[in-house]
Amino acid sequence: MKKIGILTSGGDCSGMNATVRAAVRTGLRLGVEMVGFRKGYLGLMRNDWLHLDTKAVSGIMHRGGTFLQSARSREFPTAEGQQQALENLRQLGVEALIVIGGDGSLNGALALHRLGFPVIGIPASIDNDIPFTDMALGVDTALNNIIYAVDCIKDTASSHARAFIIEVMGRHSGYLASVAATASGAEYALVPEVKFDLAEICQQLRQRFDEGRDNAIIILAEGAGHAQEIADSIKDGVGFETRVTVLGHYQRGGAPTVFDRLLGSRFGKKSVEMLVSGQQGVMVGLSCNAILATPLEDVTKGEKRPQDEVLRLAEMLGI
Ligand code: F6P
Repeated sequence: MKKIGILTSGGDCSGMNATVRAAVRTGLRLGVEMVGFRKGYLGLMRNDWLHLDTKAVSGIMHRGGTFLQSARSREFPTAEGQQQALENLRQLGVEALIVIGGDGSLNGALALHRLGFPVIGIPASIDNDIPFTDMALGVDTALNNIIYAVDCIKDTASSHARAFIIEVMGRHSGYLASVAATASGAEYALVPEVKFDLAEICQQLRQRFDEGRDNAIIILAEGAGHAQEIADSIKDGVGFETRVTVLGHYQRGGAPTVFDRLLGSRFGKKSVEMLVSGQQGVMVGLSCNAILATPLEDVTKGEKRPQDEVLRLAEMLGI
C-alpha cells in the first residue's frame, strides 16, 4: 500500500481531527503516503486534495470540527459522481480511502467498496445512531456541551421557578436526550423511541411545583416533537412560565473530550493498519472497549441496537 486518502463527510463532530492525525502519523510510520480530500466526497469528485504530512496534522488535536472540512453531497450518490471519484483516485494513485462520517457517509463508502475500491469507514456522528459501535466519534463531546448548558439553564430556571424545554440534536435518535437527562438530573427526556403522554407530564409537573420544587427541566430530542408546542401545552396545562432553549449547532463544536481524542486516535490508527494488512470493506467500531471491524454491508443494513440499557436507567431514576 503506497498511498491512502482520507476524508471527513456529513455533519462534522469533535474528534475528527484527532482521527485524521492518528491515521496520518500511522501511515507515515508504515511508509504510506497520505492525502486528504477537502469537503468530503465533494473534494473527491472535484479532485480537491492536499498532502498530509506530520506538519499538516500538527496543532489540530484540540480543535473541534474538521480541518479537512465537510459537506453533504447530493452528487456523490449518483453513478456519475462515483465514477468521477474513482477516476480521480486512480489518477492520483490513491489505493485506498478512509471515510470518517455518519450513516450517509458510510453508505457512500459502501458504494465505493461495491465498485471494487478498498475503503474503511469510521463512525462519526453526535447522534450515536450507527450500528456496530457502542459510541461514535463526537458523542461524548456533544454530551459534555449539553450538560454544561443544562446546568447553566437550571440556575436561571430555579431563580424564576420556570419549566424549561431544552431541545437537543439527534435526528431520529433519542440517545443524546436520554443520556443528557440522566446525567443532568432532568425531570424528563422526550425521545422518538418512547411514546409520551403530555397530559400526564403536565399533571406530574403541577404536583412537582405544588410540592415547592422551583424548576423543571425537560430534555427534548429534536425528533420527538416541537419544543414550542410542548412548552405551550405545559404553560396552559400547568400554569407555570415556560421557556424554550434550542441548543442547536453549539452541541457539535468545541474542544474534543479526552474520550473523543482517544477514540479518534484508536480508530485512525486501526484503519491504516488494517488497510496496510489488506483488510477493507469494513467499519471500525468500539465494542466493550475493543476496536472491532464490521463489514460495511452489515453496518448500512443494520439498525442501531435499541438503547435499552440507557432507557431503563432513565426510567428507574424516574426520568
Ligand atoms: O447528524 C448530525 C446532526 O447534527 C443531527 O443531529 C442534526 O439533525 C443534523 O446533523 C443537522 O444538520 P446540519 O448541520 O446540516 O444542519
